Amino acid sequence: MKRLRLGVNIDHVATVRNARGEGYPDPVRAAEMALAAGADGITAHLREDRRHISDTDIEALAVICRRRGRPLNFECAVTPEMEAIALAHRPHAACLVPERREEVTTEGGLDMIRGANTITPVVRRLAAAGIRVSAFIDADDAQVTAAKAAGAHVVELHTGAYCQAVRERLPQAEALLRNLRAASAHASELGLEVHAGHGIDFETVKPIAAIPEVVELNIGHFLIGEAIFMGLGPAIQRMRGLMDEARAASHADPAFDRATQG
Ligand code: PXP
Repeated sequence: MKRLRLGVNIDHVATVRNARGEGYPDPVRAAEMALAAGADGITAHLREDRRHISDTDIEALAVICRRRGRPLNFECAVTPEMEAIALAHRPHAACLVPERREEVTTEGGLDMIRGANTITPVVRRLAAAGIRVSAFIDADDAQVTAAKAAGAHVVELHTGAYCQAVRERLPQAEALLRNLRAASAHASELGLEVHAGHGIDFETVKPIAAIPEVVELNIGHFLIGEAIFMGLGPAIQRMRGLMDEARAASHADPAFDRATQG
């Protein structure tokens, strides 16, 4: 039976800080609070344009995560600059994401098929440095297979389209959830660890947490938004509670244990 971990993404604490060019609110303080509230690890995306998290934030986050023995999941684009930063800090994990400067957020998964020649050597070098490498991909079997071929340890499935479809009450939500389930099963069969993230809120967390092969969720924007109303600690505790409820309900289903054995 696999426990479901919660990684809290604190990028948007830095977004609020940067809106005024002040030193507050401090994402490192948010990371400390998140860990105290039950987050298993911290996720931060150092974007090439540094629109939220800064190099100094990453340095400080690496220090506090190491001190507390908790994983830092460093999200970054596949560029020489980001590879050098990952190798300098040696976080527990590096999650490779696509990045386009004009996008508001990470809009789709990394294309592990078309990008194989560029991505594979980066995956190998990060892995050789002892960093667990995760590929942020769409829920697509061919992408999962290509991530395995590139040497990734983990695939993080992009849940953004599913979450948006649920929020907008679109009929394709069920099909998108089925894709997430199928890609999770395929990844697990290939021996990849399965994570999921993007756009998850209190409504969408349960169906995703119930996917038996998923062992980690990375959640940021919604939690930081909800922190305005209920506080960061309570928002994380509520999310954790919903994850645990979904997991407990699916443990009652014999198919869950069959899927998570091995
Ligand atoms: N996982 C990855 C790879 C991401 O790029 C992001 C967004 O930075 C998240 C998870 C968290 O998404 P959200 O902030 O929408 O919860």
